[in-house]
Amino acid sequence: MTDFRKSCVYQIYPKSFYDSNGDGLGDLAGVTAKLLYLKELGVDYIWMTPFFVSPQKDNGYDVEDYYQIDPRYGTMEDFETLAAKAKECGIKLMLDMVFNHTSSRHEWFQRALKGEEKYKNFYIFRKGKAPGVPPTNWESKFGGNAWEYVPEFDEYYLHLFDVSQPDLNWDNEEVRLEVQKIVRFWMEKGVRGFRFDVVNLISKGEFADDETGDGRRFYTDGPNVHKYLRELNEATFGQDEGIITVGEMSSTSMENCFRYAGQDSHELSMVFSFHHLKVDFMGNEKWVLVPFDFQKLKNILFDWQQGMAEHNAWNAVFWCNHDQPRVVSRFGQEGKYWKESAKMLATVIHCLRGTPYIYQGEELGMTNAHFTDISQYRDVESLNYYRILQEKGLQAKDAFRIIQIHSRDNGRTPMQWDESVNGGFTTGTPWIGVNDNYRTINAEAEMADEDSVFYYYKKLIALRKEYDVIADGDILPISPKDPSAFAYERRLGNQRLLVINNFYERECEFCLEENLDSFEKLLSNYKGPDGRSMGRIHLRPYESMVLYKKE
Ligand code: GLC
Repeated sequence: MTDFRKSCVYQIYPKSFYDSNGDGLGDLAGVTAKLLYLKELGVDYIWMTPFFVSPQKDNGYDVEDYYQIDPRYGTMEDFETLAAKAKECGIKLMLDMVFNHTSSRHEWFQRALKGEEKYKNFYIFRKGKAPGVPPTNWESKFGGNAWEYVPEFDEYYLHLFDVSQPDLNWDNEEVRLEVQKIVRFWMEKGVRGFRFDVVNLISKGEFADDETGDGRRFYTDGPNVHKYLRELNEATFGQDEGIITVGEMSSTSMENCFRYAGQDSHELSMVFSFHHLKVDFMGNEKWVLVPFDFQKLKNILFDWQQGMAEHNAWNAVFWCNHDQPRVVSRFGQEGKYWKESAKMLATVIHCLRGTPYIYQGEELGMTNAHFTDISQYRDVESLNYYRILQEKGLQAKDAFRIIQIHSRDNGRTPMQWDESVNGGFTTGTPWIGVNDNYRTINAEAEMADEDSVFYYYKKLIALRKEYDVIADGDILPISPKDPSAFAYERRLGNQRLLVINNFYERECEFCLEENLDSFEKLLSNYKGPDGRSMGRIHLRPYESMVLYKKE
């Protein structure tokens, strides 16, 4: 068994983690300063979102130089110190590699714009269909058409994200060799993991109009993506068994993920897929307000769990990241049952088959931002859509309400360390507002309370290491149609684990063909006796329990 099955990855968004020098931005030295906190939690890896030189139009996902640290985050020496200190704490580093696109400020793109053919061929330039008409009708994921006109060439370049993020041309072997060089550079610095940003978009297929959609079917899981990933694997991280990799897969299919993350496919160790986080969208449309669909959430998670298991492929399991609202605000509640619901959601994810990821502050039960004015938002996507929604005819206040719920900035407010000013994140002016609830929700308070969300996460991380059934067991849904419960069994040889959760505030009851009293309770978010009675169970608001038996 490879070790990543028992591991837990903690995601750090350095800009919002901890500011060591008072400039209002988190930095690498800030991560080093908090390593003991992460060690206490018990995580094995930290995934750091990009800290390379970047104009920060998309908070570092627009890379200008893959070999240098952005001075806002520190120096190469700071990175080396972090890597060395993390190692002392038994924590490995996973870096975030953005290779679908670069920043338009990257030297390659700058030289392309000067007309150097070699570098024009690093990107995707095409003639328009007619004067003033872009090559295809594809939409950028951040709004608007995905092609930008360059008058000097009378051509357009493709940007699936912001106009400042031109897509790289992976069909050009020189690009692929450059990518390999970068990965090797960071491997030599001691990095033990890589997350590859939107990596299933790297191979573009036909450049044609999409009559029925936004174009994604032409470039998602494209024709050569598996070939390119295998090639990258063989030339770089595949040569070092201990390195783990995760691909961020945008709108992917399970069939493709069997290959991306298949045990013998030599592509990646695991994948992030996002279908379970679209259950509060309308189809693919995120910028609407609809309640989340609980049945759909369960169907998707169970399908992926079982499908990937049947094909010996491995999932990353998660609720939160820097692109998602906070899960306790989204599927739990912030009121009376804030703590219970945060713990319940943690249980659902951490006992699944796959490697669990925790996003900074999730282990404290941090909530959505609750900003009250558009000027408080920083995210390029949110600001674009605030405008686009109004252009489509929505009143400003209705557009704002949608941004409040779905904005990526919900997950980007600073980490809440203690009850001092700015939640202890910075002594300066934070780059984005700190959530007012830092006075009650913060790391210091939770570390002083053994019943806290923090310690609950710590227990879940430890359970995975102790019980092989969590890492390696099969997964079997229990009463998958139950309107309140999210329950499943994990099974490995004679070991059985029942994971039973009430996803709602309303109490619920259900029956199993099982004597539940014969199981040992490993973990629960309620103290004292519970509502088990032979084959029945009564669950209190957001009640969650993990039961175990060796037969
Ligand atoms: C990924 C990142 C996101 C970024 C986008 C473009 O989805 O997680 O933050 O904006 O890719 O790089």
